[in-house]
Amino acid sequence: MSGHGTPIPMTSSPCGPLSGEAHVPGDKSISHRSLILGAMAVGETRISGLLEGEDVLDTAKAMRAFGAEVTEHGQGNWTVHGVGVGGFAEPDNVIDCGNSGTGVRLIMGAMATTGISATFTGDASLNKRPMARVTDPIALFGARAVGRSGGRLPMTIVGAADPVPVRYTVPMPSAQVKSAVLLAGLNAPGKTVVIEKEATRDHTERMLAGFGAEITVEDTDEGRVITLTGQPELKPQTIVVPRDPSSAAFPVCAAIITPGSDVLVPNIGLNPTRAGLFTTLREMGADLVYENERKEGGEPVADLRARFSPDLKGIEVDPARAASMIDEYPVLSVVASFAKGDTVMRGVKELRVKESDRIDAMATGLRLNGVAVDEGEDWWIVHGLGHGNVPGGATCASHLDHRIAMSFMVMGMAAQQPVSVDDGSPIATSFPIFEPLMAKLGAKVERTVS
Ligand code: S3P
Repeated sequence: MSGHGTPIPMTSSPCGPLSGEAHVPGDKSISHRSLILGAMAVGETRISGLLEGEDVLDTAKAMRAFGAEVTEHGQGNWTVHGVGVGGFAEPDNVIDCGNSGTGVRLIMGAMATTGISATFTGDASLNKRPMARVTDPIALFGARAVGRSGGRLPMTIVGAADPVPVRYTVPMPSAQVKSAVLLAGLNAPGKTVVIEKEATRDHTERMLAGFGAEITVEDTDEGRVITLTGQPELKPQTIVVPRDPSSAAFPVCAAIITPGSDVLVPNIGLNPTRAGLFTTLREMGADLVYENERKEGGEPVADLRARFSPDLKGIEVDPARAASMIDEYPVLSVVASFAKGDTVMRGVKELRVKESDRIDAMATGLRLNGVAVDEGEDWWIVHGLGHGNVPGGATCASHLDHRIAMSFMVMGMAAQQPVSVDDGSPIATSFPIFEPLMAKLGAKVERTVS
């Protein structure tokens, strides 16, 4: 759990070329889902490459509290003995999901159609985030929720003992909400239908099929229509978690803006619902190539080679791509600062309800470091200064948000002056090896003694 300990101020100073290989950790979205679906299967699921970040470890703890046997075998190898769909036991205590919106929202969905109650809480960041987006659809199954004002945690969910299947159109582009409804649908009799107007990451659909559920996806005029047949017996799986494109984004962007760099980031999952940043960087003129493109476990995978790109240009980012790069806008805004001209990002209202208000957190920090930014409710524009012209020199607030902290550390590598954050401790939620990994490439990221 982040945000409960002592803050860790960090500083990133301008550095020489970054070079070498960056082996980033396992995918966070797939890691959460592996544990949750493993807990809902009957028998032993084996997972390798699990992200052992705080967010995922909190989900592992939660699955134990609901009765699954979750065992760590070292080096990212885990097993889960599941209790079957509908087999969750009532937890003895409050479930603390730490910093993780994915953890809490998916678990709420998974327990919403079982006849048990559970109380959820999180850190100061998670307890500010909207939960009505999950409690509204699970109420249709028959679950009840009592939380704080504004639909915030801590919150108790009373599961539906006799759930009914639902047909639900997700009102915002959110894979967490889609997944919560699908996981709730697992223990409802009959067919649950979830419709999303914009495609979001589809790991839940792919993995449910892998675990043996009957699930179909159709592209229609209404959007993506996902139909799940309830009450399957999920069969345990052997899962190899691909490396996280959202974590790869940091060494890739660092290499692109730091003079002389040449970095290889091997084995990155390039599911099209996740790879929008890399397309955008190439449109900006980044020297980023996919090497050794292949398929692994049904997912497209490649080694990413990123080299210093002195002639980046600002672009209008296609809003249709927003969902496929939603977690990458903070670090993209850093790259945009080093590009010539304006980078315009529209259709990104969801950024305001992440671990922090990411438009506000980045815009404030970029301005402190000498970069002009304009913003509205669902758009922002970074006025790029071009390579070599970004002043830096400021300390930014990370707002308990790992991606804000890492983005400013990337900025410090190529700015004229070092860039600091007040608290880098949230980095451990998703990328616990960020500091040694970046140091090995040649970055100067240090914990600041205050
Ligand atoms: C996630 C979905 C996205 C993303 C988050 C992980 C998931 O959140 O930002 O980091 O694993 O389903 P939203 O569903 O809020 O868009």
